[in-house]
Amino acid sequence: MSEPVLLTISGSLREGSFNRMLCRVAAEAFGPAEVIDGDLDLPLYNGDLEDAEGIPAKVQTLADQIARADAIVISAPEYNKGISGVLKNALDWVSRTEGNAFAGKPTVVVSAAAGRTGGETAQFMTMACLLQLQAQIISGPGVLVAGASNEFSEDGALTNARYMSTLEARMATLREAIKP
Ligand SMILES: Cc1cc2nc3c(=O)[nH]c(=O)nc-3n(C[C@H](O)[C@H](O)[C@H](O)COP(=O)(O)O)c2cc1C
Repeated sequence: MSEPVLLTISGSLREGSFNRMLCRVAAEAFGPAEVIDGDLDLPLYNGDLEDAEGIPAKVQTLADQIARADAIVISAPEYNKGISGVLKNALDWVSRTEGNAFAGKPTVVVSAAAGRTGGETAQFMTMACLLQLQAQIISGPGVLVAGASNEFSEDGALTNARYMSTLEARMATLREAIKP
């Protein structure tokens, strides 16, 4: 069997984003896979833009990547106790594309944030949106990286062994959920 396709989605566009780092660590823990990194640098959803120009090419690319993925990891930053605008905007755009790319897709949501709860609220808000999109949310002990600036090494490794073992367990469950 060929390697599964794993799509990673960071809800932060920032170059040095801890959520981007967490996506990379998750992909390594997932094991052999074709890893695709979704680009969320999209125009703001605007119904007038959609009416005038249709679905933007970058949105369609993202929707196609979701449709092609065997498994998805989303890392959600927390902004003001909620989902980042970047991530919500991407989910809103994808929901406007043909078909339902997320339907039935095994998906794990993780988060990294500065605060002590590790982005728990944003993580739950993301899962609430994904329920609406009919993703197959793979639940399990939460990967909530709190005080994220202290938890990654300079080369992006997750240094906390407890976070790492929880992440590895979630990735193993995600891999097992891939449809034959
Ligand atoms: C507008 C804004 C709001 C934030 N609100 C929260 C918050 O509610 N909870 C929290 O833990 N961190 C909050 N933070 C800090 C982020 O968790 C931190 O910047 C984190 O590194 C963002 O993720 P990234 O590293 O992937 O970009 C906020 C940051 C910004 C810029």
